[in-house]
Amino acid sequence: MKTAIYPGSFDPITNGHLDIIHRSLHLFDKLIVAIGDNPKKRPLFTIAERKAFIEESTRKLPVTVDVFHGLLADYCAQKKCFIIVRGLRAVSHFEYEFQMALMNRQLQPQLETVLFMTDKEYFYLSSTLVKDLAKNGASVDGLVPRIVAKHLRHKFV
Ligand code: COA
Repeated sequence: MKTAIYPGSFDPITNGHLDIIHRSLHLFDKLIVAIGDNPKKRPLFTIAERKAFIEESTRKLPVTVDVFHGLLADYCAQKKCFIIVRGLRAVSHFEYEFQMALMNRQLQPQLETVLFMTDKEYFYLSSTLVKDLAKNGASVDGLVPRIVAKHLRHKFV
């Protein structure tokens, strides 16, 4: 059984994240979607809400949703799972992903990061953009799972 960890802040999960989840399950038998803290972000949804959205959106898949605090490298060691999955979007994000992958490997030499090229459909997508659209009354249908669209509407009424 090959298991990988897909970490992120998922505030909220988008169809771009879901695309990476589906595609990574062609390579791995199981995926742990791990919600972590990105100190640079002030989340809109609580961890419990984000976890529920991911669980609902991945119900039929071999996916476990978990939460971690502290360093991702420590979490991977604790789970004895040394493959990290991330989605790679615009070229401008490459440096950020490269830096994280190298730092994680520095902390935990067994760790490998597998970067999936984001589908062209989701190239422009981000959780921040989706929140901005919802806040300004635009539709987010097709960009996020239905449960997320519903909660975004409620957040901003
Ligand atoms: N399609 C479209 N958009 C995508 C995407 C895809 N396939 N994959 C990611 N994104 C977007 C997300 O929506 C998100 O948008 P936002 O910046 O507007 O919120 C952005 O890309 C990246 O967010 P996400 O994938 O949710 O992860 P993150 O970069 O916020 O998460 C952690 C980072 C939590 C993994 C990282 O901060 C971490 O490891 N923290 C723990 C502490 C630690 O170990 N620090 C040292 C790290 S070396």
